[in-house]
Amino acid sequence: MIASPTPGNLVRASGILKRGGLVAFPTETVYGLGADASNPAAVAKIFSAKGRPQDHPVIVHLADISLLDAWAVEIPRAARLLAARFWPGPLTLILRRAPGINDAVTGGQDTIGLRVPLHPVAQQLLRNFGAGIAAPSANRFGRVSPTTAQHVEDEFGGSIELVLDGGACEVGIESTIVDLSRGRAVLLRPGRIGMADIAAVLGEPVESAVSEKTIGAVPRAPGMLEVHYAPATPLSVVRSGDLLRVIAAGDVVLAFSPAPDGVPAGQWIAASRDAARFAHDLYANLRQLDRLGCARIVVEAPPAEEQWVAVNDRLRRAAAGSA
Ligand code: TXA
Ligand code: MG
Repeated sequence: MIASPTPGNLVRASGILKRGGLVAFPTETVYGLGADASNPAAVAKIFSAKGRPQDHPVIVHLADISLLDAWAVEIPRAARLLAARFWPGPLTLILRRAPGINDAVTGGQDTIGLRVPLHPVAQQLLRNFGAGIAAPSANRFGRVSPTTAQHVEDEFGGSIELVLDGGACEVGIESTIVDLSRGRAVLLRPGRIGMADIAAVLGEPVESAVSEKTIGAVPRAPGMLEVHYAPATPLSVVRSGDLLRVIAAGDVVLAFSPAPDGVPAGQWIAASRDAARFAHDLYANLRQLDRLGCARIVVEAPPAEEQWVAVNDRLRRAAAGSA
């Protein structure tokens, strides 16, 4: 059920978490499906609700940076610098996990993903609850992340007891993930915070593992699976110059300019040319086009520039299953 984040509903939400239940809540990136990170049975409920494989690790959300040492050990200076600069905010750090942390959140790995979110509702919930909240994006496995409370309801058919409504997520795509557990900084998932931002704070170049599909048998980040963030409708990303030539009757389009006269598209969304705005709207736009049940979603390729890296990554994955 969707509920506004009144003080009463925030108390209710932390009561549900304490009882081992699930609560969906807004963050500045996307909505999360939260459970008490210290309760393995509660975390298991996230996996079954999402239909997600049990060996995938989930991010633990913390109220503030002071809790870092309770969850991670051997924390490198780079992690302290990045946390000081970007937390609260859309950055997840992968660190060596502290002893005693349950395998349900780490997927059995010796690392843990930690993030301090900025959204005021997430902050309030974390403070009321008073402990770590494990939360992946509140969507079914492999699908487009939700950026509104209604998207969460649509994903789970109303089966989540409480969905705190914090409006549309400001960033709109998932957090940047940086792995600092390997003695150097490795980007696992691009996001609003870019490689250059991270390198500037660290004073050294950052390696990217984003083109790696998996490491060993288990993906280090499910977001690294080729097919991910995908609508049900097949999706193609096409160069601007090819757009009008490839559109067939019944296609729906996400482009940078309004539809020219006479184009056969079923629906046409003219998206922002600003990368941050495009990202903010991306998942809502994909959901809107997906709902039409058309043959194909055609997306005009954004520029191959630094500020578009995260968006291009999500589009490439959304298209990967639709060869
Ligand atoms: O913006 C976000 O990060 C959102 C909001 C809700 O915080 N959460 C999110 O969670 O996107 P999820 O589970 O959909 O993606 C988290 C990613 C996964 O790809 C997961 O594998 C990776 O973080 N991750 C978590 N813990 C990890 C670990 N110990 N080692 C490597 N990757 C990890
Ligand atoms: Mg996800």
